[in-house]
Amino acid sequence: MEWIRGWACVFHEFLFQRFMSSHLPNPLSLPPLSHLTCIVTGSTSGIGRETARQLAEAGAHVVMAVRNTKAAHDLIQQWQRDWSAKGLPLNIEAMELDLLSLDSVVNFSIAWNARLAPLHVLINNAGIFAMGEEQKFSKDGYEQHMQVNHLAPALLSLLLLPSLNRASPSRIINVNSVMHYVGFVDPDDMNVVSGRRKFTSLVGYSGSKLAQVMFSNVLFKRLPLESRISVVCLSPGIVLTNVARDLPRSVQVQYALIPYFIFSPQEGCRSSLFSATDAQIPEHCEKLKTGDKPICTFISQDCKHTKPSEEAQNVETANRVWEKTVELIGLPLDALERLLQGQELAEAGAHVVMAVRNMKAANELIQQWRTKWSASVGTMYDDFVLQSNGIWIAMLSAYCH
Ligand SMILES: NC(=O)c1ccc[n+]([C@@H]2O[C@H](COP(=O)([O-])OP(=O)(O)OC[C@H]3O[C@@H](n4cnc5c(N)ncnc54)[C@H](OP(=O)(O)O)[C@@H]3O)[C@@H](O)[C@H]2O)c1
Repeated sequence: MEWIRGWACVFHEFLFQRFMSSHLPNPLSLPPLSHLTCIVTGSTSGIGRETARQLAEAGAHVVMAVRNTKAAHDLIQQWQRDWSAKGLPLNIEAMELDLLSLDSVVNFSIAWNARLAPLHVLINNAGIFAMGEEQKFSKDGYEQHMQVNHLAPALLSLLLLPSLNRASPSRIINVNSVMHYVGFVDPDDMNVVSGRRKFTSLVGYSGSKLAQVMFSNVLFKRLPLESRISVVCLSPGIVLTNVARDLPRSVQVQYALIPYFIFSPQEGCRSSLFSATDAQIPEHCEKLKTGDKPICTFISQDCKHTKPSEEAQNVETANRVWEKTVELIGLPLDALERLLQGQELAEAGAHVVMAVRNMKAANELIQQWRTKWSASVGTMYDDFVLQSNGIWIAMLSAYCH
């Protein structure tokens, strides 16, 4: 029954998205955003590319977190040229991030957190839908849809909590999909390898999107109210992008021939831009937090508040998905609390000075602590600040486990 309702939602979105969003301007008008720093993953193509460009043109400092940095630099150059007659240069840069590698996520987070700069908006946009492809695994050993669409963004969101906390009020925005309505996730078989279900790319994609909503629901519930970090999932609609790159050529042509139904990337990025900038989102999130159920804000393709699927609101499964996710990405179960607490204490001046005469021994200790930390969590490198007249370690004893 739930499955039939899910497919009804998918077809409804496909047939009526243009009608439902007819009230929205295209492009969405944005307020001045020069006070915001935003990371947009997967911004070399499709929805992410439009999102990054429009945020930058509204004045935001935009970080394009991408696996193809050359493509990102080419885009930046082109955007700067196009914009040069209109105003100040865009404040936009590219950093390397490959979601198929958890190490790359850790390295990105280390590099970002090391700036000790606030992060106002993280947009987990990058995603794959390898339509019709056989099951593939990342080098971390995870089914690729699950890794790129859910596990790696989950790790990124957690590791960037110190920077998000620094910018509070801040937001984690997950570009999800109406396809989560037809998804199924078994926390004991996130890789779909047990044989209980047959893997198809549709199973992989929709399951990964459902897992992301469930994880986001629990993440939002666990974040303390005073952190003022909002968590939002959204549906961009059905959008003509490179997401169809794996379809047979003939199907791609048909896909492109139905433009009336399908959004352009400029239309498809409106729910991302709305989620990142609408002033009412934090208030709405706060209201949801006071409810019993773990549930985060879900924004539809027409920029309205809506509910995720019934299954996404299944508290027991969502909690198991949370636990399994944290385990798969190699963090301790209380990582969220530790990362937030660490930030608070570091901001309160918890820099530790190792005042020693044996610098070699101190350096070895630091290396040892770093190794331990990277083995279990791997993100607090940024909080090591080496100074010429001593060694300052913004690391709490809680991390030296
Ligand atoms: N298009 C739709 O109809 C639709 C509907 C619902 C939801 N969505 C969601 O919208 C988001 C954006 O997709 P899109 O439609 O704009 O597709 P797209 O044009 O294919 O863009 C996807 C972006 O993700 C990046 N990416 C893929 N794998 C990556 C990895 N391992 N590491 C880092 N970046 C990676 C791609 O980088 P490269 O350019 O280097 O490949 C690209 O920049 C996805 O999460 C997708 O699931 C799309």
